[in-house]
Amino acid sequence: MLIAQLKQRLLGKTASKQQGDFASETAYDIWAGSYDAQPDNLMLALDEEVFSVLLKQINMEGSSVADIGCGTGRHWPEILKHKPCNLTGFDVSAKMLAELKTKFPEADVVKIDGYRPLQLGEKVYDVLLSTLTVAHIANMERSVKSWTNSLKGKSSILITDFHPEALARGGKRTFEHDGHSISIINYVHTISKLLKLFGEQGFALEALEERFVDEQVKHYYEKKNALPVYHKFKNQPMIYGMLLTRK
Ligand SMILES: C[S@@+](CC[C@H](N)C(=O)[O-])C[C@H]1O[C@@H](n2cnc3c(N)ncnc32)[C@H](O)[C@@H]1O
Repeated sequence: MLIAQLKQRLLGKTASKQQGDFASETAYDIWAGSYDAQPDNLMLALDEEVFSVLLKQINMEGSSVADIGCGTGRHWPEILKHKPCNLTGFDVSAKMLAELKTKFPEADVVKIDGYRPLQLGEKVYDVLLSTLTVAHIANMERSVKSWTNSLKGKSSILITDFHPEALARGGKRTFEHDGHSISIINYVHTISKLLKLFGEQGFALEALEERFVDEQVKHYYEKKNALPVYHKFKNQPMIYGMLLTRK
């Protein structure tokens, strides 16, 4: 993609709210039992790719790591391979955390209230991870301050999420439950806005990854009889990941 086009995409849009049907806590409590069993979920597949590329760029051995919106701990086997000295998961959904606990009974997890400023506690971290969660957070201004306050001077932040451009075009995070499609409230936080907020706290972008809806992923839509959705989003970014560091 041309630099000018990329710049326009990153800088050209303002944040706006998109109303879904369910608040995160309620929706993920419902989704928790089946969340890990989604072999044909394109978002999860693209997220795994982006997460893995970015995670390799962090030296996590002996680090203290926080995972915000850890959910069922889908990424924990990979994170633990990097030998952090401790790993704490934070989430608004008690049921997602309960699923995590069945897989990692010793895990250190904290149930948080999504409507209050996030308190990461007394502990300070070297690395903060957050996958597929940022767009569920209404107030990123407040969250960025709270996240970065809990990080040591020299530290890293790895974020992946549903791309704000896909959300701005009407993309929704949905799942099937009892024959109903349930969608979850999302907020559009543009990449440029996030970079500005983290930049104000001394964090600079090390790497940015984006994955697009293209021929390579068409089979996901075919399998779900969703070719009209494929054509609506074709050539549009679907997932992004960013790695930020403070030196
Ligand atoms: C799509 S899931 C991602 C879970 C996990 N990170 C993954 O990649 O599989 C989003 C998670 O964010 C959590 N969540 C939603 N709003 C949140 C908030 N304000 N603070 C922390 N977690 C939140 C949800 O409960 C859910 O577990």
